[in-house]
Amino acid sequence: MEVQSVLHMNSGVDDMSYAKNSTIQKIILNSTNTARQEAAVSSLQATGFPTQMTVADLGCSVGPNALQMASEIVEAIAQASRQFNRRPPEIQVFLNDLPGNDFNTMFDLLPEFYRLREVKLQESEQQKVHCFISVVAGSFYGRLFLSKSLHFVYSSSSLHWLSQVPQMLLDDGSEVPLNNKGKIYISSTSPPCVLEAYKKQFKRDFSLFLECRGEEVVGGGHMVLTFMGRRSSNPSPLIDCYMWELLAKALMDMVSMGLIEEEKVESFNAPYYAPSVEEVKDEVTIQGSFSISRIEIFEVNWDDNSQEAPQSGHNSNPTQMRNGTIPHQVAKSAQTMAKGNRAVVESMLKSHFGEAIIEDLFKRYCFLLEQFYYKNKAELTNILIVLVKN
Ligand SMILES: C[S@@+](CC[C@H](N)C(=O)[O-])C[C@H]1O[C@@H](n2cnc3c(N)ncnc32)[C@H](O)[C@@H]1O
Repeated sequence: MEVQSVLHMNSGVDDMSYAKNSTIQKIILNSTNTARQEAAVSSLQATGFPTQMTVADLGCSVGPNALQMASEIVEAIAQASRQFNRRPPEIQVFLNDLPGNDFNTMFDLLPEFYRLREVKLQESEQQKVHCFISVVAGSFYGRLFLSKSLHFVYSSSSLHWLSQVPQMLLDDGSEVPLNNKGKIYISSTSPPCVLEAYKKQFKRDFSLFLECRGEEVVGGGHMVLTFMGRRSSNPSPLIDCYMWELLAKALMDMVSMGLIEEEKVESFNAPYYAPSVEEVKDEVTIQGSFSISRIEIFEVNWDDNSQEAPQSGHNSNPTQMRNGTIPHQVAKSAQTMAKGNRAVVESMLKSHFGEAIIEDLFKRYCFLLEQFYYKNKAELTNILIVLVKN
């Protein structure tokens, strides 16, 4: 699978689009907003209050999230400039994603972004901060910008995507596809070589990412990265990979019903990796372009009524659900996750399994998620890291 050409979030603004199904990513960016704003202001100070400031969002995708982040960063810089009695810089914000991203929908959202900025300015009667949005199509696992041209970089919910599906290295140096029977990501039943291949791919990719940004970010410039992570040092506990484990189960259920060929599942593995904090720290230290100013791991919960969902491990038998039905909040959490994940992975699944299975697959996936969230919280683990260019 050529990740660069098949990975793109669902385009447009319809019911199944990423723009309409990025609630979980929005919760993530809202909970990391203060860290991004503080780091943007630190970049402004550490780079000597430049008259022009260049900012990049890596993996912007499509929809309101990217423009919300851009707007919040511009506001933070404007406010800090006033506070320090400095003239605010002109700000160039580059929105980056892979070439297959639906940038056209992004362009359609831009007039409203500029209009809202004007309204805000008129209301506050503050000095205008010129802000220009541009788009850069390309992989962040390669150079995207001029040397020493970026003052501040951020990326939210994107860096867990690898540049390619990990391959297994044979003794003779050749690479072959993973043998990960009935699974599509690291699982408790995966052989150790699968785990090794994923770890190795993450190390290679993350190091290249740091190297490229190391060339592009000016000294003192900050980088704020948020991506999926895991608490355990061993990547296979179900709680750390249930998204993929349940999707694999839904696929294998369809195999057992003769709806998908087993070989198709065998040959599919997700180009995704949720690292531990230690793995991230190690790579930053080894690569050497940036210093860590802050790193933390946190849970993102999108079950806004967690009272109704039992605590982890509380009720382990789905057949004991009240009257055999799933509580409304649990069903809602499962639906949010199923639709959200569909908006993210549908392009990859379609290209590998064909369009015909998608509807059925995600119905099964939603059902499995309901059972999972009946026993466990609707949560995902994320890592936040703030880096400063040396
Ligand atoms: C889940 S979306 C996150 C979008 C947005 N940042 C948000 O918080 O809503 C992940 C995005 O990362 C992009 N992405 C994945 N790998 C990439 C790469 N190598 N280079 C650039 N973008 C990439 C995907 O295309 C996708 O649009």
